[in-house]
Amino acid sequence: MRKAMVIGVLLVAAVLVGILITAFGRERAPEQPIAFSHKIHAGEYQIACLYCHTNARRSPVAGVPSLQLCMGCHKITAADKPDVQKLKAAWEQQRPIAWVKVFDQPDFVYFSHQRHVTKGITCQTCHGPIETMDRVRKAVSLGMKECINCHLAKQVSIDCWVCHK
Ligand code: HEC
Ligand code: HEC
Ligand code: HEC
Ligand code: HEC
Ligand code: HEC
Repeated sequence: MRKAMVIGVLLVAAVLVGILITAFGRERAPEQPIAFSHKIHAGEYQIACLYCHTNARRSPVAGVPSLQLCMGCHKITAADKPDVQKLKAAWEQQRPIAWVKVFDQPDFVYFSHQRHVTKGITCQTCHGPIETMDRVRKAVSLGMKECINCHLAKQVSIDCWVCHK
C-alpha cells in the first residue's frame, strides 16, 4: 500500500519535471527559419567551427556564415531536402535569413571573441557542446559571474570598465 503511494508520488513528480524541462528547453532553444543542425555539420561531418564562424578569431563578433558559404555545398548536397530548398530560394532572391539569436549580452556589456579565441579558449567553454545539438540552446549559463570567475582564475583584470564601457 505504502509502496504504491510512493510510486504514485514519484510518477507525478516525474511528469511535472518533464513538463518543466520541455517548457524551459523550448524557450532556450528557439526554432530557426531554416532547420540548420550543428549536430550534422559540426558533429557528424566535423566541419570546423571557424570554417563557418570565421570572424570569431579576428573581430569582436563571431557572426553567422553567409548563404554563399552554405550554397558552396548545397547546390549539390542534399538538394532534395525541403530546408535546403528553402535555403536555395532565399539565396536566389538574395534574401538574408533572419536567424534567431541565442547568446545575447545586454548592450552595456563589452565582449570580444577575438581576445578569447586567440588565447585558445574553446568555443565549448562558453557555448557548451554545440556539435551535439540539432537546435542551438544555451546549455551553459554565461552571465557576469562566469566571466568574472574565469578572469580571476586567469588573472585578467576584473575592473568594471573592462566589460562595461
Ligand atoms: C562543407 C559542406 C557544407 C556546408 C558549408 C553547409 N552544409 Fe548543410 N549539409 C552538409 C551535409 C554533408 C549535409 C547532410 C546531407 C545528408 O545527410 O544527406 C547537410 C545537411 C543540411 C540540411 C538538411 C538537413 C536535413 O536532413 O534535412 C540543411 C537544412 C543544411 N544542411 C543547411 C545548411 C546551411 C543553412 C548552411 C550554411 C550556414 C550549410 N548547410 C552549410 C554540408 C554542408
Ligand atoms: C556549416 C556552418 C556552421 C558550422 C560548421 C558551425 N556553425 Fe555555428 N551556426 C551556424 C549557423 C547558420 C547559425 C545560426 C543558426 C542556428 O543558431 O542554428 C549558427 C549559430 C551558432 C551559435 C548561436 C549563435 C547565437 O545566435 O547566439 C553558436 C554559439 C554557434 N553557432 C557555435 C558554433 C560552434 C561552437 C561550432 C563548432 C562546434 C559551430 N558553431 C559550427 C553555422 C555553423
Ligand atoms: C569567453 C567566452 C566565449 C568564447 C570562448 C566564445 N564565445 Fe561566442 N559568444 C560569447 C558571448 C558572450 C556571446 C554574446 C555576444 C553578444 O551578444 O554581444 C557570443 C556570441 C556568439 C555568436 C552569436 C553571434 C555573435 O557573434 O554575437 C556566435 C555565432 C558565437 N558566439 C560563436 C562562437 C564560436 C564559433 C566560438 C569559438 C571559435 C566562440 N563563440 C567562442 C562568448 C564566447
Ligand atoms: C574561460 C575563461 C574566460 C571567460 C569565461 C571569459 N573570459 Fe574574458 N578573458 C579571458 C582571458 C584569458 C582574457 C585575456 C585575453 C588576452 O590576454 O588578450 C580575457 C579578456 C577579456 C577582455 C579584454 C580585457 C582587456 O584587458 O582588454 C574583455 C573585455 C573580456 N575578457 C570580457 C569578457 C566577458 C564580458 C565575459 C563573459 C561574457 C568573459 N570575458 C568571459 C578569459 C575568459
Ligand atoms: C569580465 C566581465 C565583467 C566585469 C569585469 C564586470 N561585469 Fe558587470 N556584467 C557583466 C556581464 C556579462 C553582465 C550581463 C549579465 C547578464 O546578462 O546575465 C553584467 C551585468 C552587470 C550589471 C547589471 C545587473 C546584472 O547583474 O545583470 C551591473 C549593475 C554590473 N554588471 C555591474 C558591474 C560592476 C559594478 C563591476 C565592477 C565591480 C562589473 N559589473 C564588472 C560582465 C562583467
